[in-house]
Amino acid sequence: MVKLAQDVWEIYGLKGNPFDVRALSLLQESLLPISKAFVGRTMDSKESMLITNILRNPGGACFVVEGEIGVGKTSFLNYHRFLWENEARDKLFTPCKEIGVALNWSLKDFLMAILDSLISKVVTLRNAKNIMKNSELLQEILMLSKVYFGKTLQIEGGVNGFHLGIGQNETVSVPDVSETRLLLYFREMVNQIKRLGYAGVFLHFDNMELLGKQGAPALRLFLENIRDTLQTSDVYFAFVGYRGFFSDIIAPLQRVRSIFFGYPINLAPLSQQEVVEAIEKRYQLLAKVPSFIRPVENDLIAYLYNIFGGKIRFIMDAMNTLIPNFPLPTPTTLKANIALELLGKMAQERIANLTKNERRLLEFAATKEAFTNKQLCQRFKMPAPNIARVLKNLQNLNLVYIGYSAGKYTYYKVNEEIRVIPRFSNTQRPDLAEKIMPSYAKALQTLTCVANHSFQAADYQHATQLPPSTCRRYLKMLVDQGKLQRLGQGRATIYKLA
Ligand SMILES: Nc1ncnc2c1ncn2[C@@H]1O[C@H](COP(=O)(O)OP(=O)(O)O)[C@@H](O)[C@H]1O
Ligand SMILES: [Mg+2]
Repeated sequence: MVKLAQDVWEIYGLKGNPFDVRALSLLQESLLPISKAFVGRTMDSKESMLITNILRNPGGACFVVEGEIGVGKTSFLNYHRFLWENEARDKLFTPCKEIGVALNWSLKDFLMAILDSLISKVVTLRNAKNIMKNSELLQEILMLSKVYFGKTLQIEGGVNGFHLGIGQNETVSVPDVSETRLLLYFREMVNQIKRLGYAGVFLHFDNMELLGKQGAPALRLFLENIRDTLQTSDVYFAFVGYRGFFSDIIAPLQRVRSIFFGYPINLAPLSQQEVVEAIEKRYQLLAKVPSFIRPVENDLIAYLYNIFGGKIRFIMDAMNTLIPNFPLPTPTTLKANIALELLGKMAQERIANLTKNERRLLEFAATKEAFTNKQLCQRFKMPAPNIARVLKNLQNLNLVYIGYSAGKYTYYKVNEEIRVIPRFSNTQRPDLAEKIMPSYAKALQTLTCVANHSFQAADYQHATQLPPSTCRRYLKMLVDQGKLQRLGQGRATIYKLA
């Protein structure tokens, strides 16, 4: 019987989903603690050296981390927040969760979100009760945040007895607290936090990448509005944005730019080896028993790495689509080429209902790393508004998304998920079987030695001159792949071309 979805990882001997695409978090009780699950981006990497230099400067700073969706921006910042909170000599106080910015935030929303995430962290400290008892300011901020976000915080509540999704919270008005007053609260709160033994505060604003494009004017206004707050002493403000965010949004704003670190920290994808390592680490962390079963062959991960341009989120997402949708009667490691075929089939279904035009455009677009409306106009001799309409549809179907912008152009990208269809891949694909299963390719080649007639294992070994164990493996593979038929049993087993 097929097990229910929630058990899906359990049947492999795993405590949870090894392909969980949520950013690695600072929450201690997480199944994948950042201290153990984080790979790559070592202290001597360009990005880690840069962020360390920025944070090492006393007094506070403002900076941007940029990169494509799914390369590991949020995790990267979380990792450094973790290090500065736990391993540094001069510790920085940092909220449990990154702060999500909503479009059209006012200065008041911004300040409230900061106060809320800070106070929510204070109440998780070991000596929270004492700290709160001795500070009227902190009590007041706690009250304010309760009223503003209409939620219940428990001072005693163990570590993270509550959840914060600041962007989504309904806000109720706090009529009589002015922005000036909130800013004062913030400054004073930072001072109190410092008195607890911290060198400063590290704030992480996470999803500017999601509101950046459509909301550029609103975003610029927002940054102008919060400019004074960004100059608060001893606070490090990190903003995560899409590739081009800094030059698009910040650079044109003279007054804002002057308080930001001069250029963004750029994150490139992890290397192929690091991605395999990250997933392998997750298996180890989640393994209930040493004999757990890998859901897919590592070869598949390496192969998807090339298709998805190295973006680890998409690689794991593919597995998330695949494994729960393909329940096996008994858990076994899914072969890379079978997995790839299944992924292709699922992706095909997603494009099955496209119009001819949509399909044409999508197919052309998929040959590009990124593309603009203009390029499609030129290629298809269609007016820009028509192209825009098709693009909008493809965006709504989640087949195309806005990648980044450069100058006045918006660069779109084809959703990585459909790149598993060979036609939609912009990478050269060598023969599938050979690339992902070199040994299978060899097994196929050796078959020619015994072509045309039925044979026994010993004939095969004689013809190929391979060691017996390799022969057994190849024969099994060829039978599994449907290339050979197996007749009879034991010593009498005969193989026939299928
Ligand atoms: N350095 C890393 N080591 C291990 N896993 C990582 C690393 N970077 C990212 N990941 C994993 O990849 C996925 C995407 O990372 P995330 O930080 O959310 O990317 P982004 O914020 O750029 O979209 C997450 O599941 C995350 O846990
Ligand atoms: Mg992110």
